[in-house]
Amino acid sequence: MLKQLKEDIQAVFARDPAARNTLEVLTTYPGIHALIMHRVAHELWTKDCKGSARLLSSFSRFATGIEIHPGAKIGHRFFIDHGMGVVIGETAEIGDDVTLYHGVTLGGTTWNKGKRHPTLEDGVVVGAGAKILGPFTVGKNAKVGSNAVVTKEVPADTTAVGNPARFITKNKPKNEEENSLRDYAESIGFQPYATTQDQTDPILEGMRVLLDRIQHNEKRMNTLCQRLSLLDPTFKKQSEQPFSTEELKIIEEVRRECEAQTNPSKTQ
Ligand SMILES: CC(C)(COP(=O)(O)OP(=O)(O)OC[C@H]1O[C@@H](n2cnc3c(N)ncnc32)[C@H](O)[C@@H]1OP(=O)(O)O)[C@@H](O)C(=O)NCCC(=O)NCCS
Repeated sequence: MLKQLKEDIQAVFARDPAARNTLEVLTTYPGIHALIMHRVAHELWTKDCKGSARLLSSFSRFATGIEIHPGAKIGHRFFIDHGMGVVIGETAEIGDDVTLYHGVTLGGTTWNKGKRHPTLEDGVVVGAGAKILGPFTVGKNAKVGSNAVVTKEVPADTTAVGNPARFITKNKPKNEEENSLRDYAESIGFQPYATTQDQTDPILEGMRVLLDRIQHNEKRMNTLCQRLSLLDPTFKKQSEQPFSTEELKIIEEVRRECEAQTNPSKTQ
C-alpha cells in the first residue's frame, strides 16, 4: 500500500508542473486524498464489508468532491488533477498511468446490473468535463478531449473530441478510395477536415457522402458526353468551351448588372 502511495505521488510530480514537494502533494491534492480513501474502500468492498466501503467513499466524496464507487478497479499511478466533480462508476476499470481532470464522468447508460461503465486502458488521458458513457473500452494511450461525450469504443492511440466524439488518428495510412476522395476535394477547392471513413461527426460524414455523389455524377456526365459526341460529331465535349460567344456576352452583361446593384459607386 505504501509503495503504491509513493508511486501515486510520483505520478503527480510527473504530470503536474505545479506540484512542488511531497508534503504539499499529500496535504493539498484532493485527487491523492480520494485515491488513498478509494484504495481502502475497494479493499473493504472486495472483503465483503460493502456498507463500510460505501460509507468511506461517501465521506471521500464529501471531503474531495470526487465520487469513486468502491467497486471500481483502479491501476497504478492514477492521477486525478483538480478533481472536483469527477464520478467513477461501480464497474469502471482503469489501467496504469491514467490521468483524469475535473468534471470527468465514467458513467453507465443502463439501469441493468452487470458491466455498464467504461474500461480505460493504460496511459489514457481524459480532459476536463469529458463524459465517457457505457461498457466499452478506451484503448491504450488514447486521449479524450475536454468536454467530449464518448459513447463508443475509442481505438488505441486515438484522440476523441467533440459531442458526439469524433476520432482523430494522426499519421494513419490512408486507403486508395480515401486518397482519391481527398484529391478530388482539393481539386475543387474544398479543404476537407477529417473526411475519413472512420470519423463520426455527422456534418463531416454528410459532406463526405455529398462529395462522393458529386464525383460519381461527374464521372457519369463525362461518359455520357463522350458517348454523345460519338453519336453526333457536332456535339461539344465537356473539355471544349461550354458557352458560345453570344452566351458569354449575355453572362458578362448579367455580371455587370449584379455588380452595379451591389456596388453602384464602382461602376459609375
Ligand atoms: C484533445 C487534446 C488532448 C489534444 O489532443 P491532440 O491529439 O494533441 O489534438 P490536437 O491539439 O492536435 O487537435 C486536433 C484537433 O482537435 C481539435 N480539438 C482539440 N481539443 C478539442 C476539444 N477539447 N474539443 C473539440 N475539439 C478539440 C483541435 O482544434 C484540432 O482541430 P483542427 O485539426 O481542426 O485544428 C486536448 O485538446 C485536450 O482537450 N486536453 C485536455 C486538457 C484539459 O482538460 N486540461 C485541463 C487542465 S485544468
